[in-house]
Amino acid sequence: MPCIVVVGLQWGDEGKGKIVDILAEKSDAVVRFNGGSNAGHTVVVNNTKYVFHLIPSGALHGKKLIIGNGVVVDPIQLYNEIEFLKKNGINVDLHISERAHVVLPHHKFLDSSLDTKHGLKIGTTRRGIGPAYSDKMSRRYGLRMREYVESNFRNILKKIVRGKISILRLYGFKKSFEKYLDEVYSEYSFYAKELKKYVSNTTYLLNKLIDENKTILFEGAQGTLLDIDHGTYPYVTSSNTIAGAACTGSGISPKKIDKIIGVFKAYVTRVGLGPLPTEIRDEKIADRIRSIGSEFGATTGRPRRIGWLDLVALKYAEKINHTDFLAITKIDVLGGIDRIKICVKYVLNGEDTEIFPSILENIEPRYIELKGWRELSREEWREIASSGYNTLPREIIKYIECIEEILEKPIKIISIGPSREETIFRQI
Ligand code: IMP
Repeated sequence: MPCIVVVGLQWGDEGKGKIVDILAEKSDAVVRFNGGSNAGHTVVVNNTKYVFHLIPSGALHGKKLIIGNGVVVDPIQLYNEIEFLKKNGINVDLHISERAHVVLPHHKFLDSSLDTKHGLKIGTTRRGIGPAYSDKMSRRYGLRMREYVESNFRNILKKIVRGKISILRLYGFKKSFEKYLDEVYSEYSFYAKELKKYVSNTTYLLNKLIDENKTILFEGAQGTLLDIDHGTYPYVTSSNTIAGAACTGSGISPKKIDKIIGVFKAYVTRVGLGPLPTEIRDEKIADRIRSIGSEFGATTGRPRRIGWLDLVALKYAEKINHTDFLAITKIDVLGGIDRIKICVKYVLNGEDTEIFPSILENIEPRYIELKGWRELSREEWREIASSGYNTLPREIIKYIECIEEILEKPIKIISIGPSREETIFRQI
């Protein structure tokens, strides 16, 4: 049975959480393979909004949840999410890779310090993600879950803090070596004890599940254009966010992946700094989309920047992920806008191009315009969801088919509202 990878094709916040939540119902396990608590997955069930940062979105279905080696784990955040699920009577069948790295307080300190006072401002989530991955890659100050939950945690921590303290000082870290060590040890050893039972060799577990023909869902965090290698560097996150990362971040072969689903929003958003070629300058339209679409960061609460759908970027993301089919989300949000723009080309140095370049500063988007559709009530959207694709307003069908034609990929899932019920599945 299949291994299905779900990835975002834009700058994150495409609504992957909802799609994963729906698909999780028919899956045996859900796997996170990249990022950390910088991600924010919002799922709405029975009018209650759940936001997860580390726990895979399948949690609400009580499925097997796996946090792969490619994730950086903030123990406090994870513990709180586990406790939240338990309090809500949800069974937590969680397995954390012993190879996943741990986010410590100095990572968060560095993340904030680098983003505010020192160096390039990226507009990070300040969850310590970049510094934790930097320590992993540098191989000198990384801490993996296995070492963290074992009894020699204090000694390892001591070595890490001793090695890092002079670097931290350069960025304004004031606490003494002893004070910081004692504080972190006393706070974090509690979480180590609490999380120990969930830590295992998830590589074997996952491959065993695959051998047993289980259905496994790999839930991408962030989006393709935030990928450390393929995104709008340096305004990206610090992990690989593309479908290929499902393998490196969990320990399975690319040959085991059966399906890749790419999720994109009917418009684009981004939080933080960095290029957004189709950013909407008309504040009335941008504000309207932001407020109807609740476009505020799930992790930081920051207002998201809003842009028209960018098919140059989307086609590039599609190429890297080579999806089997696409899911479009939040198409309902665009209701009530007279003319909808779609970017189909860029102009670079006076020439048209359909290439997504590595430097975006000098490009200008070229649009086509389609007629918009009226604003519909939630009841009307629900009615459409239960009656099927052909009952969508004609203009929406045209919008969808225009995207399919340019991307040469079918859009099989259409999300027209936040709840599970407001989703159309197309058999094409
Ligand atoms: P970091 O991942 O916290 O280092 O932030 C780097 C960039 O990625 C910033 O622009 C963040 O706003 C963005 N980012 C990180 N995680 C997400 C996400 O889940 N959704 C959208 N943007 C994100």
